[in-house]
Amino acid sequence: MSSIVSFVLDGKVVDVRFDHQSGLRSTTTVLNYLRSLPTHKGVKEGCAEGDCGACTVVLGELGPDEKIHYKSVDSCLVFLPMIQGKHLITVENLKLSNGQLHPVQQTMVETNGSQCGYCTPGIVMSLFALYKNRDVPTRGEIDDALTGNLCRCTGYKPIVEAAAQACVLHGVDELTYAEPAVAAMLKTLHGKPLHIQTDGQQYFRPTTLAEALNLKHKFPKATVISGATDIALRVTKNHEVIPLIIDLSAVDELKSVTEDDIALKIGGGVTLSDLMPRLVNGFGALREMLSVFGSQQIRNVATLGGNLGTASPIGDTLPVLIAFGAKVVLQNLEGKREVSLDGYMTGYRQTVRKPDELVVGVVLPKSRPRAIVKSYKVSKRKDLDISTVSGGFKVELSTGNDVALITLAYGGMAERTKRATAAEQFLIGKKWERDTIEQAMPLIDADFTPISDARGSAEFRRVAARNLLLKFWHETAKEGV
Ligand SMILES: Cc1cc2nc3c(=O)[nH]c(=O)nc-3n(C[C@H](O)[C@H](O)[C@H](O)COP(=O)(O)OP(=O)(O)OC[C@H]3O[C@@H](n4cnc5c(N)ncnc54)[C@H](O)[C@@H]3O)c2cc1C
Ligand code: FES
Ligand code: FES
Repeated sequence: MSSIVSFVLDGKVVDVRFDHQSGLRSTTTVLNYLRSLPTHKGVKEGCAEGDCGACTVVLGELGPDEKIHYKSVDSCLVFLPMIQGKHLITVENLKLSNGQLHPVQQTMVETNGSQCGYCTPGIVMSLFALYKNRDVPTRGEIDDALTGNLCRCTGYKPIVEAAAQACVLHGVDELTYAEPAVAAMLKTLHGKPLHIQTDGQQYFRPTTLAEALNLKHKFPKATVISGATDIALRVTKNHEVIPLIIDLSAVDELKSVTEDDIALKIGGGVTLSDLMPRLVNGFGALREMLSVFGSQQIRNVATLGGNLGTASPIGDTLPVLIAFGAKVVLQNLEGKREVSLDGYMTGYRQTVRKPDELVVGVVLPKSRPRAIVKSYKVSKRKDLDISTVSGGFKVELSTGNDVALITLAYGGMAERTKRATAAEQFLIGKKWERDTIEQAMPLIDADFTPISDARGSAEFRRVAARNLLLKFWHETAKEGV
């Protein structure tokens, strides 16, 4: 295992050592590393928690198709070892060799897309990722690319215009011509496992599942990370020195999505961005939920395994996964087991996962033709916000419009994601009609004692939970199930 992190920056391989001389830790963020260089001060820190996008950079990754794929990330949440074998692109790298600006920079100038300029490098990098990934993007795609970037003074109209004007060249720019050389460098760096030891801290980055399971067996108390979008905040906000980290982000075996007649099998390390395009044909409810999950910068690194790993009562994927009847796949050295996600959480941030087990996947069964699954997120803002209440619901009706099967899973209503069992039992065998729904709505209270907090009062949560059931009925009755 190597203790040197290598990546491509400014057209060459950079080797980073973690010693007293460099002053770097394995949990030094890419943002702080870049800010320590004299040549990369364009990247800015706003919030250090993934909310403002001032720190946005783009990572180029060599895919299984041998092509480089470009993704925007919040550099304040990415630990340096996580960019091993990747191409780190900052705002300084966009300028053309003849001194002219990159198309996304030039159109920002022409549309007056910047005032104080603090957010501008981050916005330019988000637009650059859009430029590389979408030719002639829709307004929705532009908005989505900018969800993770906060601009306090300019207003988004000129920035949206800049995106629309710039992203029309099929993603071609000088970086395109440099790709063969960069790909050759990345190839030599791929598959290198890391073990970094600094004061009071050990960081392992295995590249195979077998190595990862061995490490978790040896160090059951180690902190596992996949995308680190949750764990990084312990470093950036609480200034914790996490003693032992096992980073799964280089384990390719956890990144596959396969499909058969019965189910979609999703690796625990699949990022939410990579998962979204696979969620077609009946899996729309999960895709909908992911479309309001954080921002593109977050979804580009956050994983399904990590979301289940947080065991958060307001985690957004669990209610809808329960509605689908999904199972989590847990693995340790002794073997694999599948656990229904309905029984996965046992209390506040508690699950049935054993200390030496990893979340290696999720089995998402295909719904029967008459079943409808929907997901709902109630939050103060539509985008980049934490759920106050969320719901994942499924109903299957008989030909006579009777409820044959129903699942009503709620997040934000208790110490864990939970089903409204009293309401479900009442509805079974009843007509799927407004009268019955109105009788079932008060029964939701029987299963929950929500709390009041900054996001909403207990009473707000109760009312929202009842109304989500009414909304579900309204939408499914309209669809004429
Ligand atoms: C700005 C911002 C916005 C966010 N928005 C949302 C949102 O809209 N909805 C939402 O639900 N969450 C949100 N989150 C929280 C977080 O991004 C998600 O929970 C995400 O899915 C975590 O995935 P990760 O891979 O980054 O997890 P990590 O941070 O790597 O890990 C999270 C937890 O899971 C454990 N873990 C990770 N992988 C595994 C594994 N394979 N096996 C066992 N344990 C594992 C870790 O030990 C840790 O306890 C947001 C976070 C930020 C910073
Ligand atoms: S500094 Fe705000 S998202 Fe990174
Ligand atoms: S230009 Fe000032 S914050 Fe965006």
